[in-house]
Amino acid sequence: MRRVSRLIIAMCLGSFVMIIIYFQSNLKTVLPQGSERARGSRKSVRSPLQTLYATDPMDLSPLHLMHQSRRELLQDACREHTHKRRVLIPDDLKHVIVDDLHGLLYCYVPKVACTNWKRVLLVLTDESGNLRDPLQIPANEAHAPGRLRTLSEYSAPEINRRLRGYLKFLFVREPFERLVSAYRNKFTRSYNTAFHRRYGTRIIARHRHEPSPEALERGDDVSFAEFVRYLVDPGTRREEPFNEHWERAHTLCHPCLIGYDVVGKYEKLHEDAAYVLKLAGVDGEVSFPSLAGSTRTTGDMAADFFKSISPEYQKKLYDLYGMDFLLFNYSTPAYLQLT
Ligand SMILES: *[C@@H]1O[C@H](CO)[C@@H](O)[C@H](O)[C@H]1NC(C)=O
Repeated sequence: MRRVSRLIIAMCLGSFVMIIIYFQSNLKTVLPQGSERARGSRKSVRSPLQTLYATDPMDLSPLHLMHQSRRELLQDACREHTHKRRVLIPDDLKHVIVDDLHGLLYCYVPKVACTNWKRVLLVLTDESGNLRDPLQIPANEAHAPGRLRTLSEYSAPEINRRLRGYLKFLFVREPFERLVSAYRNKFTRSYNTAFHRRYGTRIIARHRHEPSPEALERGDDVSFAEFVRYLVDPGTRREEPFNEHWERAHTLCHPCLIGYDVVGKYEKLHEDAAYVLKLAGVDGEVSFPSLAGSTRTTGDMAADFFKSISPEYQKKLYDLYGMDFLLFNYSTPAYLQLT
């Protein structure tokens, strides 16, 4: 039923120009399921996407099954919570990085190990073969514009071809842990002057009662409570989209429009990263860098920060980030006071 109605919608929408006709349900017909396997020796020719879906049901590992249920949970949550299904436009794909050599699409979410993923993708997409060790790439180079191609740069048919044939993955993190990580990184470190000037000064001007002239000028002492007031103020997003460091993962990556094949979690970073690299067939060539120093359990970091937030604002913030909790199966934090 659902498939038929989707097909009808697809046909109706097909009459408009400049849209990307891409639906998850297409995937199954596009893939030569199992056929590669039957030919035995062609294993290395399989794309990561084929590797993921062509596995024999008999040898499904617990890890494989876990990723399958994550994927299904996301699809179910999308069906349940998104009302209007719109069509993808190239602008939605600015965060989706393309690896044509291996057939990978990675949507990056800042504060979710994205620097290391970009480093790994720089190694994977390096045609010279000189880049081998992700950690030798400085962070600023990993983020330098133009070093990696994003899906938004291609024409609609080129986008469609990649969406259909490539393994699409993203990494997500508990939304409030990510938010606190963004706050700490951008507002409590003295070196982040660009963020202080651009956002800090504005946050203090609008959300601090009787600010000092120095604070207004420098914008370098934004409290977490002020940051939260800035986020939940409807005027903030009316003015411009959130900065990507605190924009919601679903807004950056559109998981209900792009059928991601693998949803990786920061909380299981190494296991999930290794899974993706194995599907890509590059587990012998490149390994995911371990997070130097920051592997300390950040599990309770958010709880401390939320102590300074009133229940009213906790509720507003939870409403704002609620979709990321739902879609990626994060439970409501126990410390939250939802009135
Ligand atoms: C969703 O989260 C619950 C609670 O943490 C967990 O038990 C369950 O396995 C998760 N489901 C999926 C599909 O990841």
